[in-house]
Amino acid sequence: MENTQKKKVGGLAGIVAGKSAICTVGTGHGLNYRGYDIQDLAMEAEFEEVAYLLLFGTLPKKSELEIFKHKLQAARHLEPSLQEVLKLIPKDSHPMDMMKTACAMLGCLEKEKPDFSNQKDIAIRLLGVFPSILTFWHHYHHNNISIDTQSQEESIAGYFLEKLHQKPPKKLWTQAMQASLILYAEHEFNASTFTARIVTSTLSDIYSSITAAIGALRGPLHGGANEAAMELISEFSSPEEATKGILSKLESKAKIMGFGHRVYVNNDPRNVIIKQWSKRLAQDVGNTTIFPISEAIEKVMWEEKKLFPNLDFYSASAYHFMGIPTAYFTPIFIMSRTSGWLAHIFEQRSDNKLIRPTSEYIGPSNRAYIHINNR
Ligand SMILES: CC(C)(COP(=O)(O)OP(=O)(O)OC[C@H]1O[C@@H](n2cnc3c(N)ncnc32)[C@H](O)[C@@H]1OP(=O)(O)O)[C@@H](O)C(=O)NCCC(=O)NCCS
Repeated sequence: MENTQKKKVGGLAGIVAGKSAICTVGTGHGLNYRGYDIQDLAMEAEFEEVAYLLLFGTLPKKSELEIFKHKLQAARHLEPSLQEVLKLIPKDSHPMDMMKTACAMLGCLEKEKPDFSNQKDIAIRLLGVFPSILTFWHHYHHNNISIDTQSQEESIAGYFLEKLHQKPPKKLWTQAMQASLILYAEHEFNASTFTARIVTSTLSDIYSSITAAIGALRGPLHGGANEAAMELISEFSSPEEATKGILSKLESKAKIMGFGHRVYVNNDPRNVIIKQWSKRLAQDVGNTTIFPISEAIEKVMWEEKKLFPNLDFYSASAYHFMGIPTAYFTPIFIMSRTSGWLAHIFEQRSDNKLIRPTSEYIGPSNRAYIHINNR
């Protein structure tokens, strides 16, 4: 089926900017991580298995996964100075700015060695600590408590839900969060990953690369789309209203967040999986409006523009059903995508070349300099 998105020449669309053995997106291979199909991973694996696969190149054996999970659990602590920084970051800050600041602060406290020999330890630390950072900051500013970041909960998915809601998570919610983290973990040379690789290519440290990647992820054309999608869905109280509302937005040439993709042409293979989870979670919490509204938006977007939902669209309602505040949707993306970013940082370092393209100059030329007194 023909897609309405025009072939782009800007934004490096279609440009092969390097080689990678981590992930394929579209281009005849579908979506796979290190050769494993996303459907299989999202249905069968735990997020920690997938993170291990991305970081180290192979699926872990049982014993390897156990050790990895223990290390991740041990990496959840927040030292007092990091806690102080989190307390100082204002309540009304964008949580992505808070995450960026926390990551940069961690780089000051737990430096990477100049020879990068502790890069794997830092990778585990970042994956383990991001959920603690988000939930600690949340409870300190919204509930006036400093939470204990330790827990017996083994999985990152379950840990995040437990710390956010301050009670053990439902099994179904942990499973849904596992699947979501797997779907968000890696996506080839997307904007934030490419940012991380550029910073890495200067021989900078991991924290700088991840902080920069968080900055790139924050925008609504990238990770911020899941929050924008929830805000959009929340504008409507019925499928009929949603259909009318979207038609009117399209009429005024508005972009509908959570739709379309730079690389995928007819569908996002992650959508079918997250959509099923969204439906199950809607049933679980007895919400009968949001899912039909989302489907109405999906229908009208396809009929009018031949645009399909990307991962962000149904992730929004899935997270909403699990009681997660909308402002934390993109920080959850960080908790997951850090695994992909780290894999790319390691890969870039293993065969590094400074990433420094050139531009086509389109400015004025041959201008005579005019002294400041004569301008
Ligand atoms: C992801 C995205 C940035 C990729 O876009 P791109 O390859 O740069 O293509 P463009 O944004 O230039 O879009 C091409 C055409 O499709 C239209 N289009 C693309 N996505 C659209 C959307 N979500 N809503 C409405 N129209 C859209 C554009 O308006 C444009 O139409 P035009 O040629 O008539 O001007 C784009 O689809 C988008 O902005 N989506 C919404 C944000 C989002 O969900 N991001 C998460 C991505 S995983």
